[in-house]
Amino acid sequence: MTIERPLSRRKLFADAGKVVAGFALGGLLGSRSAFQGKAEEAPEWPWPYVQLDLERVAARGYEGYYEHHCAYGAFEAIIGELREKIGYPFTLIPTELMAYGAGGVAGWASLCGGLNGACAAINLVAKDYKPLVHELTGWYTQAPMPLYKPSNPRVEIPEITTVAGTTLCHTSVTHWCKVTGFASGSKERSERCARLTAQVAAKAAELLNKYHAGEFTPEFTLPAEVEGCRTCHHKGKNYEQGQFTRGKENCLLCHEPHM
Ligand code: HEC
Ligand code: HEC
Repeated sequence: MTIERPLSRRKLFADAGKVVAGFALGGLLGSRSAFQGKAEEAPEWPWPYVQLDLERVAARGYEGYYEHHCAYGAFEAIIGELREKIGYPFTLIPTELMAYGAGGVAGWASLCGGLNGACAAINLVAKDYKPLVHELTGWYTQAPMPLYKPSNPRVEIPEITTVAGTTLCHTSVTHWCKVTGFASGSKERSERCARLTAQVAAKAAELLNKYHAGEFTPEFTLPAEVEGCRTCHHKGKNYEQGQFTRGKENCLLCHEPHM
């Protein structure tokens, strides 16, 4: 295909029948000029890691929350630190890719965005991401939050912590709102989630630091009642025994025991 240049506006609009083609061509030129960066290759996974300063990670998570919310904040907390310390290949990642995770995935209050973003960061730099993600997730369900205190808080909030009980943004936010009396759309609740984002990102970096120093030992264990349910209700092949479900959430928060 030959491209005639210059393509004057008048010529473009002279014939209505050519307008569609004109737009298509404009799109082509536009997309070319939008990607003039050097074509650098992304190295194979997992990407490199260096020991991170947990205070810096937390501070970056807190600030990141106010840029593109929780999931971005936690992801950028770790990836941004690595970008600063290592540079390439971390310069290749638009960390905004995690922005969808805000409010438990675009406001669905499903998986907590802070947790989501931190897990994505772990996955990028640790081949054994599964036990690390399991550890962080289990810790998240039981940890009093928020504990992080910014040196320059944007909003003052009472030093009250709550426990999410699940991985859900839903219970995490609701427990805190009910205990403190702040509405879910308040600037106080946002501040609380910014601090939570900082805390979760720092915890993820702590686990990564330990893992890469060869010092990671799993600590989290599921509550005994949940393991009880899971003796029958785990991901398995015996449908009759109860293996038509799966998961590690705390069953008893939502179901009555029947055995
Ligand atoms: C000894 C195996 C076993 C254990 C332990 C067990 N379940 Fe079940 N559960 C089953 C089986 C089999 C069914 C399906 C047959 C039935 O409805 O009784 C079932 C059904 C259910 C259902 C669906 C009930 C319905 O009305 O259809 C729920 C919810 C459930 N279990 C939750 C739990 C929870 C929560 C625990 C732990 C506190 C638990 N189960 C422990 C075997 C078990
Ligand atoms: C956050 C709340 C929540 C948690 C935690 C949870 N469940 Fe459920 N569970 C639900 C909901 C909601 C349904 C769907 C109910 C429906 O559609 O009727 C469901 C459905 C089920 C069913 C099928 C029930 C039926 O009547 O067919 C089983 C069995 C079950 N869950 C077991 C478990 C087990 C075992 C755990 C722990 C490992 C667990 N659930 C954790 C909320 C939860």
